[in-house]
Amino acid sequence: MNFSVQKTNWKKVRANALAIFQQEDKRDIRNTLKYLGRNSVSTAAETLLDAGDMTGKKDELFVLYPKKAEAAVKRVFLVGLGKGDKVSLEMVRRAVARAAKRAESFKSRSLAILLPSVPGATGAEIAYAATEGITLGLYKFDKFFKRDEPRIPLDSVIFIEDGDSLHGSSAAEVKEAIDEAQAITTATIFARDMENEPSNNKYPEILANWAKEVGKEHGLKVTVFGPKELVANKMVGILGVNQGSVKEPRFIAMEYMGTKKDKAPIVLVGKGITFDTGGISIKPAPGMGDMKSDMSGAATVIATVKAAASLKLPVNLIGLVSSAENMPSGSAMRPGDILTYANGLSVEVDNTDAEGRLVLADALIWAERYKPKSVIDLATLTGACVVALGHFTTGMMGTDTSMMDRLRSAGNSTYERVCELPIYDEYDDLIKSDVADIKNVGGRWAGAITAAMFLKRFTSYPWVHLDIAGTARSEAPADYIPKGGTGVGVRLLTHMLKEEASL
Ligand code: BES
Ligand code: MN
Ligand code: ZN
Repeated sequence: MNFSVQKTNWKKVRANALAIFQQEDKRDIRNTLKYLGRNSVSTAAETLLDAGDMTGKKDELFVLYPKKAEAAVKRVFLVGLGKGDKVSLEMVRRAVARAAKRAESFKSRSLAILLPSVPGATGAEIAYAATEGITLGLYKFDKFFKRDEPRIPLDSVIFIEDGDSLHGSSAAEVKEAIDEAQAITTATIFARDMENEPSNNKYPEILANWAKEVGKEHGLKVTVFGPKELVANKMVGILGVNQGSVKEPRFIAMEYMGTKKDKAPIVLVGKGITFDTGGISIKPAPGMGDMKSDMSGAATVIATVKAAASLKLPVNLIGLVSSAENMPSGSAMRPGDILTYANGLSVEVDNTDAEGRLVLADALIWAERYKPKSVIDLATLTGACVVALGHFTTGMMGTDTSMMDRLRSAGNSTYERVCELPIYDEYDDLIKSDVADIKNVGGRWAGAITAAMFLKRFTSYPWVHLDIAGTARSEAPADYIPKGGTGVGVRLLTHMLKEEASL
């Protein structure tokens, strides 16, 4: 997608469609009409307004057609933003996504945008949100469809600079914001693509190849362990979980050193189960196909390293991924098996479907060697977290309270919101085992928390766990979040890292 800022009047802008946004507020709409001037578009808009049909409500989108002599654009979209006191950057992401999708439905290749104002936000921030809305909103995982005609994508977006339309920012500032937003959405889309890839094409080796490609693109050190190195390093969780699969497991370490070598890094750890059948504790058939994206944590880690590297953020960032395929077979791990980890801790495998924590434990032990400032793991870990928080909020648990504060604030800015669940000591009793130090399931209650209690046993540094089981996949398409893989966490973490860079 090519984005530009053009100093021009709306009548002169050369684009297939023009989107103008209005709040649910008569005065705001009147201002828009005044801006449009006297012509067939404003007359039609006036009629809509007088009839009470145009109100500026969110989800409202009118398409009007100027006469050829009146304007160069073919269509004008009047897009509702919603109530003025609620207008936020998130409403911009959503409204702009709707406009972009409508433009594409007309096979428009170019869309001009008059940025709406958002109280408390700079023009650069508004343009940033608009860029996110467009690129994330137009995302489709459609590579498997047989196509009779080529898809005609929207490929050019023009932000109009006219009067105060950049809301106090300069064109250069807006351009910079667009570039940054594009780097981050490109990474988010990369994560979505990895998540949506079916598991006949996606197994641990492929995940490692994707990480290596990012490494090649940005000159990063990427280390990949196969079965031999996993055995040598006692990564018993990854090996055990993968035991029933005909594919080989992998452990991946990516290193992006963006600042002084001696500065303690942030380590990201991702769950990379490329398919989760449950193993011998097999899952029921309905919905099992969704378990192709049980590597969403890994996708987010790989994509966040990519985003940090492409933005050249002055931070040190390590991305670790534990990848296995959880299959039932004659060679599969059994319930009751006991694993002894590299740190000496023994684990009774009470349920082979609680495999995420088993593979993460190896990576959490490995993370120690980096003397990290903070370790953040991301995992589609528990159905219990989905029961607790649904699909719009990521569960957050951990010991690094200052990082959790920062993630909470980054979550509110990016709208990839997180909510903390407690990890009180009392919950520890739930993962006691009769035959080993701990077991991998905690019984019926507080499943998201007992999973975190398990992980906590493998951490010796400030740590945060993000359970993205509910947020990594969307069940119903929303404006800029299509059904399927969401790439959740990439924008959240990159936002946090940007702030880390200024510490
Ligand atoms: N990958 C699943 C969790 C999951 C469920 C992710 C739904 C996304 C949507 C995980 O490996 C799992 O199976 N967890 C079990 C744990 C249980 C056996 C303690 C679960 O949540 O049922
Ligand atoms: Mn499972
Ligand atoms: Zn799983």
